[in-house]
Amino acid sequence: MKNAGEKISMLTAYDFSMARIFDEAGIDALLVGDSAANVMAGYDTTLPITLDHMIYHTQSVARAVKRAMVITDLPFGTYQGDSKQALSSGIRLMKEAGAHALKLEGGEEIIESVTRLIQAGIPVMGHLGLTPQSIYKFGSYTVRAKEESEAKTLLRNAQVLQDAGCFSIVLEKIPATLGKKVAETLSIPIIGIGAGKHVDGQVLVMHDLLGISKDFSPRFLRRYLDLYSQISNATNAYVSDVKSRKIPSDKEQY
Ligand code: KIV
Ligand code: NA
Repeated sequence: MKNAGEKISMLTAYDFSMARIFDEAGIDALLVGDSAANVMAGYDTTLPITLDHMIYHTQSVARAVKRAMVITDLPFGTYQGDSKQALSSGIRLMKEAGAHALKLEGGEEIIESVTRLIQAGIPVMGHLGLTPQSIYKFGSYTVRAKEESEAKTLLRNAQVLQDAGCFSIVLEKIPATLGKKVAETLSIPIIGIGAGKHVDGQVLVMHDLLGISKDFSPRFLRRYLDLYSQISNATNAYVSDVKSRKIPSDKEQY
């Protein structure tokens, strides 16, 4: 698709019902993101989610998908600093859960894990720029790699990931000019979230796209629906109908 100049569409999914809609609607790839920690489980960061949680979410998504590529995040603490653990975690997600590929956050510092997974036949996607599993190292969710030296490091890490055999890289919250540079320099597809229009594809968290999340409006986020209001209104209407005995009607009973 990159070679053909066709942009790649990707969304997160965590459950069967939503994954089925996205798949049937034509999404190219679904990411079972560790953002499940935030949007599904209500944690402040992505750090607490476990491998077992990610397996559960991936199983649910994989059961729904007939055509899209299913990529799952290796969660925090299952691959950093230990390539053997990375491999055993990765094998569980591929074998028990039905992922088609895995995503890992980081560059050079995790290259041993990346290489070991790829050697085992597991396709690996990189993730650079804002990497939420390292939030306590950075201290904020602000735009990354604005400085020339950080931009250079990011480009080098992208190159290292490509050389190791990664099939794609996600770039999160970096200047559009840097996104362009990486997409032009590398031959593998670069998927952006807040990485500008020149990368090879876009990814969004489904709750953000559908307007289910609240109090989160980074510049890159385009909401296609306001489901928060719609679901809230539907709930109000239902509560009101129950209280006023409007449901069930005569026709809605046995
Ligand atoms: O977990 C996630 O949702 C992600 C995307 C934002 C790329 O990693
Ligand atoms: Na993630």
